[in-house]
Amino acid sequence: MKILVTGGCGFIGSNFIHYWFSRHPSDIIVNLDKLTYAANPESLRDLDNNPQYQFIKGDICDEALVDKILSDGIELIIHFAAESHVDRSIDDPLLFVKTNVLGTYTLLNSAKKHGDLRFHHVSTDEVFGALPLDTDEKFTEDTHYDPRSPYSASKASSDHFVRSFFHTFNLPVTLSNCSNNYGAFQSPEKFIPRMITNLMDGKKIPVYGDGLYVRDWLFVEDHCSAIEAIILKGKIGDSYNIGGLVKDYSNLEVAKTILSIMGKTESDLEFVADRPGHDRRYAVSWEKIHRELNWSPSLSFEEGIKKTVAWYQENEAWWREAKTEAEAFYQRLNATRSK
Ligand SMILES: NC(=O)c1ccc[n+]([C@@H]2O[C@H](COP(=O)([O-])OP(=O)(O)OC[C@H]3O[C@@H](n4cnc5c(N)ncnc54)[C@H](O)[C@@H]3O)[C@@H](O)[C@H]2O)c1
Repeated sequence: MKILVTGGCGFIGSNFIHYWFSRHPSDIIVNLDKLTYAANPESLRDLDNNPQYQFIKGDICDEALVDKILSDGIELIIHFAAESHVDRSIDDPLLFVKTNVLGTYTLLNSAKKHGDLRFHHVSTDEVFGALPLDTDEKFTEDTHYDPRSPYSASKASSDHFVRSFFHTFNLPVTLSNCSNNYGAFQSPEKFIPRMITNLMDGKKIPVYGDGLYVRDWLFVEDHCSAIEAIILKGKIGDSYNIGGLVKDYSNLEVAKTILSIMGKTESDLEFVADRPGHDRRYAVSWEKIHRELNWSPSLSFEEGIKKTVAWYQENEAWWREAKTEAEAFYQRLNATRSK
């Protein structure tokens, strides 16, 4: 099979390409990526000499380029490319409309022109909004959309376009809405890698507000295996929620777990000003994908976070340059928010 992966140089896309080749080595993967700040081509350096792999630097909003790629025998699109950082969406919402909405539309429209092309859209649980802290409620596939940040609003809009192309044009689509991922190859700008790399640099780890924000954490390779299950066995036109939640972990508990793995103490925590519109709790019910496709997460949070800390400790060359850029970004952000 010949597959177009968009955003394959980002965190989940690069993990997915490694995962897919480990399980389907005779498939061909074309990776279309614009190489924004979030990309790191080093994540796929080991594929440089793999004849089954092709990298194309380009924008998913470039209709002529997308048409050309799809006309070369692509059978399946797995769409990861997005602007994905909530803090950046508060800074520059229009960029999120362009990439996440117009970019997804461009891919769909081009797929429609190329006949029976399967389209899998990778989305987020953040489209469902937030849950209160004091319930056991979880997001299901039937939860109504209630996005709160420009990021989640742009992803919600892209989900609607994907469904509309199924209903209106019979494009064979599937969607997945996944909880927060963590693992190797994630930018040090994001919550968990930032904590680990700060501690490695002898700095404190920042915790927004009171730290009592609950996220449903999933080890990235488990997200990849869920997408694989949907591609191989999912029902066309359906959405699947993906999560790892067995018990609630607050951001503060995640921070304390990392402190303990790295032999640090709570004096290395620093509470910082909260993010505007910060959602309290995300929790995903993954009952449907478990029941229909027999998928479950393979790693507990305790196992996954130990593997993740070890990976950042062993791969400083991968994250060092991006760390400098990430900290410059947070300095600019803090200066804007304290005005
Ligand atoms: N990270 C998470 O926890 C999480 C959870 C659920 C869903 N998702 C979704 O999964 C997908 C991947 O997330 P991620 O964390 O790997 O993101 P990321 O920010 O790490 O990577 C995004 C990639 O997309 C590329 N890209 C951005 N704009 C592009 C454009 N216009 N054209 C081509 N390429 C472009 C970037 O260069 C980068 O390589 C996103 O759609 C995101 O919404 C992420």
